[in-house]
Amino acid sequence: MPVLVVVGAQWGDEGKGKLVHYLSRSAHAVVRYQGGNNAGHTVVHRGETLALHLLPSGILLPGKVGVLAHGVVISPRGLLEEIRFVKKKKISVRGRLRISLGAHVVMPYHMRLDALRETTERPLGTTRRGIGPCYIDKVARRGIQMADFIDPPAFRKKLDFALESNAAELRRLGKPAQLKKEALRGYRRMAEELRPYCVDTVEYLHQGLSSGKRILFEGAQGVMLDLDVGTYPFVTSSSPVAGGACVGAGLAPRQLDRVLGVAKAYTTRVGAGPFPTEMPAGMAGALREKAGEYGATTGRPRRIGWLDLVQLRRAVKVGGLESLALTKLDVLSGIHPLKICVAYRFRGKPVAHFPVSQSMQFAVEPVYELLPGFSGNIRGLREFGKLPPQAKSYVRRVERLLNLPISFISTGPGAGELILRGPKVW
Ligand code: IMP
Repeated sequence: MPVLVVVGAQWGDEGKGKLVHYLSRSAHAVVRYQGGNNAGHTVVHRGETLALHLLPSGILLPGKVGVLAHGVVISPRGLLEEIRFVKKKKISVRGRLRISLGAHVVMPYHMRLDALRETTERPLGTTRRGIGPCYIDKVARRGIQMADFIDPPAFRKKLDFALESNAAELRRLGKPAQLKKEALRGYRRMAEELRPYCVDTVEYLHQGLSSGKRILFEGAQGVMLDLDVGTYPFVTSSSPVAGGACVGAGLAPRQLDRVLGVAKAYTTRVGAGPFPTEMPAGMAGALREKAGEYGATTGRPRRIGWLDLVQLRRAVKVGGLESLALTKLDVLSGIHPLKICVAYRFRGKPVAHFPVSQSMQFAVEPVYELLPGFSGNIRGLREFGKLPPQAKSYVRRVERLLNLPISFISTGPGAGELILRGPKVW
């Protein structure tokens, strides 16, 4: 099985970084296929907690190749800072990083537009990394790709075109000459530094696959933040679903062999939007402090809720999930009873599926099944058999209700704090 896609099955921050870091050991290359440095993948590497935003988590392991495919949007400054950051940890990406020539570039004006929209229009609670405005330019066909970025005459032309064709909106930020100056600041040096990494990643990946290499795809954000199947408009501007790997990296659908979903044992989301199983502030606050539920990219407090199987069923369907990694089970210790949302009700009537309509998403009421909680410190446990009986029952109940095997249970942030169950996923 050469290709595995790891996707977030909730609203992001599920702990994909840790799983990808673990699974990377048997991969040749780890590929990001969407999003940008809005992501925050936290990994405990050699005992140190690191948050990566653009570099695929697998790059931390010696000899592994990290690929930023064309579906990713790249902030050159952010990426270079991250390359320097890992270098300080004695990890060199030289010869191991491949950046798609087709990836779009996040320009300084994209970040400023993102921030401006968040303060003057309907705030979505974006990460303000310029992700939405960059994808808008891509769709409007005035975006700047890495191939242009590393070719100074092409870059200047494309920059002028981008600034002119979006002049009305950009004028809100300042004078065109000033925006251009800002876009050109430090440009030459950044282009020189990134040029050696830029390749045709479609060819690179297909060559790898035809020579039997194993490729791991690292989804960013989560299914519910997907532009099409998520809680629109409170979503990101890309396709975190497994299918996004085909579009964002140029693979054919039948080349994706396996899809692993990652879900927390409860639910979190950052930013605005519907969240049917959100907990009352007091309880959420206690859990937040216990589990450090603050955004890895922005430091914002995450909203917290119970595990939501209506939402997860949606993720299982659209992701074609074949198994699940359940993370942060240790956090639920000491909570009695545990609640699992098994259905929704809308105006007193049962709702069979996660609703598409935004007003319904806000209005549905969760129907909970109550399970006995468990106590004691399960942090770092590596054997399913050693979990308290109630913790085992919780896991088995989720498996049963979702009709999906739980292959991994994470019992702490450390790389080894993981229970493996059932047949090997990959
Ligand atoms: P954007 O991706 O910065 O445009 O933000 C759009 C929505 O996606 C906001 O609700 C963000 O909080 C959310 N979001 C983006 N990236 C992540 C992530 O890595 N984890 C969790 N939420 C995210």
